[in-house]
Amino acid sequence: MNIHDFKKMKLENRKISMVTAYDYLGAKAVGDSEIDCILVGDSAAMVMHGFDSTIHATPEMMCTHTAAVRRGAPQKFIVADMPFLSFRKGTEVAVQVAGDLLKAGANSVKLESLDGHEETVRHLVQSGIPVMGHIGLTPQFIQQIGGYKVQGRNEDAQKHLKYQAQELESLGCFSIVLECVPQGLAQEIQRLLQIPVIGIGAGLQVDGQVLVFHDLLGLSNGHQPKFVRKFLAGYEAIKGALNQFHQETTEGSFPSSQETYQ
Ligand code: KIV
Repeated sequence: MNIHDFKKMKLENRKISMVTAYDYLGAKAVGDSEIDCILVGDSAAMVMHGFDSTIHATPEMMCTHTAAVRRGAPQKFIVADMPFLSFRKGTEVAVQVAGDLLKAGANSVKLESLDGHEETVRHLVQSGIPVMGHIGLTPQFIQQIGGYKVQGRNEDAQKHLKYQAQELESLGCFSIVLECVPQGLAQEIQRLLQIPVIGIGAGLQVDGQVLVFHDLLGLSNGHQPKFVRKFLAGYEAIKGALNQFHQETTEGSFPSSQETYQ
């Protein structure tokens, strides 16, 4: 897959599947699956490092995860998140961070929101760095938004999201992520753009879906947003296996003679 396939898939009405990955083994499983592309999300700060928001992701953290994911999934198209503020310090810093992410193994970068960094998006694209936009709920702006809530509920916000989507397309983005908006608005935005709109919490009428690896595998047992579907009860499966190891160790049935060097 390359950036041109994104538009082609939209034209051919083929939905795009994207999932996050952060480490070698996780990426290997995604690499061996039919998933179209991988996002090395700044959600790494939360699901891999235990922070309470994505603002703790750093360029170094994102490069380390991107390199591990590339080693695990050598053939997949990888999008890497530009972390908090890394694209708000001028084009020079943005180019440096985006370049480092590409050298670490990403094929493209993703930037949240748009207002105030339009020139940076344009400059990255013109520098040969494919850019995916991300609008709607943008978790790096959580302190300003005031919580993880549905965006685009009133007319002004809807107008602004449509403007941002069209502007991202005209700046040269090859795709956008649209997070946590009502499905009617998502459908309008999907129809306005030639580039694919990949939704998360944006309903069915978009060009693809993205989920966090740990969410779709049910690996966390905390609160899940309404839009998450658990395709596996991963947390329970892991806990069960750990308890079984503990039990078989303590009762003396592990290891067996077949698991022992004679
Ligand atoms: O960081 C991330 O995981 C993301 C997805 C939720 C789209 O940006």
